[in-house]
Amino acid sequence: MNISRMITMTIILGLLGQLCAYAEQPLKLEAIESNYQFPFFDTQTPVWSYNGQIPGPVIHGMEGTTLVVDFLNKLQEPSSIHWHGLRIDNAMDGVPGVTQDPVAPGKNFIYRLKLEDAGTFWYHPHFNSSEQLERGLKGVFIVEETEKQPWSQDVVWLLDDWFLQKDGTIYPKFNTGRDLMHDGRWGNAPTINGKFRPEFKVSPGERIRLRLINGANARIFAPHIEGLSANVIAVDGRPATQIFPFSRFVLSPGNRIDLDLTIPQEAGGKTYIIEDRFSRKAFQLASIIVKPAEPLNPPEFTPPTEASFIPAQMFEKVKVEKTWDLNAIRGGKYGIGWTINMKLWPDADKVDYPLGVPRKITFKNSSSRLHPMHIHGVFFRVLERNGKKAVESFTRDTVLVGPRESVTIGFVPEHPGIWLTHCHIQSHAEAGMMTTIEVKD
Ligand code: C2O
Ligand code: CU
Repeated sequence: MNISRMITMTIILGLLGQLCAYAEQPLKLEAIESNYQFPFFDTQTPVWSYNGQIPGPVIHGMEGTTLVVDFLNKLQEPSSIHWHGLRIDNAMDGVPGVTQDPVAPGKNFIYRLKLEDAGTFWYHPHFNSSEQLERGLKGVFIVEETEKQPWSQDVVWLLDDWFLQKDGTIYPKFNTGRDLMHDGRWGNAPTINGKFRPEFKVSPGERIRLRLINGANARIFAPHIEGLSANVIAVDGRPATQIFPFSRFVLSPGNRIDLDLTIPQEAGGKTYIIEDRFSRKAFQLASIIVKPAEPLNPPEFTPPTEASFIPAQMFEKVKVEKTWDLNAIRGGKYGIGWTINMKLWPDADKVDYPLGVPRKITFKNSSSRLHPMHIHGVFFRVLERNGKKAVESFTRDTVLVGPRESVTIGFVPEHPGIWLTHCHIQSHAEAGMMTTIEVKD
């Protein structure tokens, strides 16, 4: 081998080594006590965060690859990380007592995430969740498509709300009687990516993928963009069966939507207000400020759809296998328990399903409160509401079951393991509203 070839070889090997090291290099996430500056106070607010950031870092992974996350728990209590919406190996699902032991203070846990689906996901603890999420532990997880689309911008908005006291601290009581008798803990400071009423600057003619994630403990959002039209292209991390216009879309804790938003070319200098319209009193969440600049030409392309993913037809002959009645009782560790078929976690009404057989489940809300029901590790399709056909043109991993409402869903158990199923209003889940679906090979 001559010298120049040797040098080339060395460089190539060196590069390969680096790439491999890069692929193998785990991403480090630390749950840690830190401080955060809200605009409302002179002092900083003590929070619990991932890597000292509010919200936690946006994790980017590539569809079809394996991402390794080294989680180090620097809190003074156990924790874990759950990857909300990702279909992954059950052992990596991050549920203490079900899929792993709690990660003790000072200890770490390596999560190996095989990224099957591209889309918008998020991560959060699954231990003492009503407190740990509320203190700030959460972040967005984007799985990138291998086939890129020419969006002008890809924007992530993590919606949240905080319950802050006058002295700038987080109200330190969780799972209160008030939270439990109502729809959980609703805060007094709504934020997007940790910011209060952020201003988002765009150019006229931009075509934006706007990813909205509800990471709140309990608050439900129905974002409204005054004066701009948009399309919903994905729900809960999966492309929709059919793209549809964005009007009122209720985002309960856990839900995500991806919007396709084009800023009109003649909008230079305009401001658009985004408000929440779920609550009786609408309030501003953010604003979009269009620069008075030369308009761009919006990129032309059609976002992908997914007509063949868990189509409604596959459930036509399937009977409802399980009805889960959602209600409250006196008792449990907080005095009020939230039940599924009258049972409180961990003494739950669990189900066992074989792999690959389509199933229907009905969530029947016998209470007058809200229950966003989430199933780990699968996507499902809403088929009926209150006994009437109500097929949605997208799949979900979380569905809001309103007061006295019943919702029937269809799904196919695809991955073996024990998958947690629960209300995503954290204090309802803590007060018992959890069960599991065990999928057996
Ligand atoms: Cu966001 Cu049990 O999950
Ligand atoms: Cu609930």
